[in-house]
Amino acid sequence: MSARTCLAIVLAAGEGTRMLSPRPKVLHAVAGRSLLGHVLAALRAAGGTQTAVVVGPDHEAVAAEARAELPGAQIFVQAERRGTAHAVLAARAAIEGRAAERESARGRRGRLKGPALAARPAGSPARAGAAERESARGRRGHLKGPALAARPAGSPTRAGADDILVIFGDTPLIRPQTLQSLRSALADGAAVAVIGFRPADSTGYGRLLTQGAELVGIVEHADASDRERAITLCNGGLMAFAGRTALDILDRIGCDNRKREFYLTDAVAIARDMKLRAVALEVTEDEVSGINTKAQLASAEAIMQQRLRQAALEAGVTLVAPETVHFAADTRLGKDVTVEPYVVFGPGVVVEDGATIRSFSHLQGAYVGKGAIVGPFARLRPGATLQEGVHIGNFVEVKEALIEAGAKANHLSYIGDARVGAGANVGAGTITCNYDGVAKHRTDIGKGAFIGSNSALVAPVRIGDGAYVGSGSVITDDVPPDALALGRARQVVKEGWVKRLRGLKSLGKRAAQASD
Ligand code: UD1
Ligand code: MG
Repeated sequence: MSARTCLAIVLAAGEGTRMLSPRPKVLHAVAGRSLLGHVLAALRAAGGTQTAVVVGPDHEAVAAEARAELPGAQIFVQAERRGTAHAVLAARAAIEGRAAERESARGRRGRLKGPALAARPAGSPARAGAAERESARGRRGHLKGPALAARPAGSPTRAGADDILVIFGDTPLIRPQTLQSLRSALADGAAVAVIGFRPADSTGYGRLLTQGAELVGIVEHADASDRERAITLCNGGLMAFAGRTALDILDRIGCDNRKREFYLTDAVAIARDMKLRAVALEVTEDEVSGINTKAQLASAEAIMQQRLRQAALEAGVTLVAPETVHFAADTRLGKDVTVEPYVVFGPGVVVEDGATIRSFSHLQGAYVGKGAIVGPFARLRPGATLQEGVHIGNFVEVKEALIEAGAKANHLSYIGDARVGAGANVGAGTITCNYDGVAKHRTDIGKGAFIGSNSALVAPVRIGDGAYVGSGSVITDDVPPDALALGRARQVVKEGWVKRLRGLKSLGKRAAQASD
């Protein structure tokens, strides 16, 4: 991309009532990452953008997610939900290029008194003052004039970015290339660029009104005539504005429509009135479909999984039955990794070259070293770190544990809060007893140690390098290097004991028959 600067404004103030969930809509997950996280990841991948995220009042969790996914993101609160243009203008300070300065002046947070509808930094009181409410009411309904103005129209905005992107926080399938192509349209001289698509069912979407290659207007479904509703090219919701004229256009948007909302879509007709050029770029439906319901969330998941499987195959991963493997958006698989059917990757998994993940394994927050073998039926939980050549077999659970090179735990074990030294062998049924009901404790197993089957290692405990633990032991004390520890009752053999028992039984039977 050119040296043009860019500000992306992500709208995430919606309630998402149709999700039927107390969780804010943009925090629902696709491939283990929030919807908002996907949008911010696309922005990160597209590169070169500053980002402002507009959240609703009381949406501190959304703000926290934005900061976690993109630490430089500036947060703005839209105190009242009055439409997409109103939401964009909540980030007015960022559009004017003031926000970066404000963010760096952390101490000033919350003390800024903005004009009625201007940006209010996160953390400041959500309630508008009476005077502010009054002035907001006074402006309502004026289609012409500075409907949302907090700045005299026409004043310079040059401190702001060259390109302004507006993205909805609930469109997780957006691709970085699409963001780039919108910016290219601005670089080619458009003042407004809009993403269009042709949905199977266009109910509810804004319709794009075109004349040849030019976009002349957008009419919302609720306001459209029958003839306009027959138009198949719809507004995907993603838009770009040339920074030079963005505020002049946005400040002219009014709310003279059926819903009495400030529609961002009015920007197109206003730009035309100002003799500026607007264009539409068409993409596939997948990319812009917004998530409003749990069913749409599931469809987006299916599309995302398809993309992730395809990317893995193209990167040289062997997926024996790709359609059965579930990835997280951040799963990283090395060269020539093999993933057998029915494997689930939660967030935070890295698998190095040549490793094999066998069927029915579940991995989350785990690192699998080169050539390691995991599963079938293995569970790797957060903090499981497997070095090169490790074998973790069936029904073995590993959590917060370092398994050093070449160590093996092949059957039916729990290894938690532990280190297993290089080349050690953990026998079937071994359990690290890490929890005493109050706190967690560590188990340390030395290099080349051998833990006999069905042993319980009661933490905190250390097994020295090369030591042996006899099968069935309960180990409560440290074992020195190269020692054998037996923590079980000594075996007792009673010769002929069963024979005597049988003899007693048959005597009893005969006595019973005699008394009948
Ligand atoms: C919008 C478009 C419509 C387009 C459709 C694509 C407008 C006026 N209409 O309609 O042309 O076809 O998206 O999906 O833009 N939001 C806020 N604050 C508000 C209102 C909305 O942050 O006050 C956010 C929502 O959280 C959401 C996004 O803006 O992320 C879009 O709002 P929504 O109400 O879903 O708009 P649509 O009616 O779907
Ligand atoms: Mg919508």
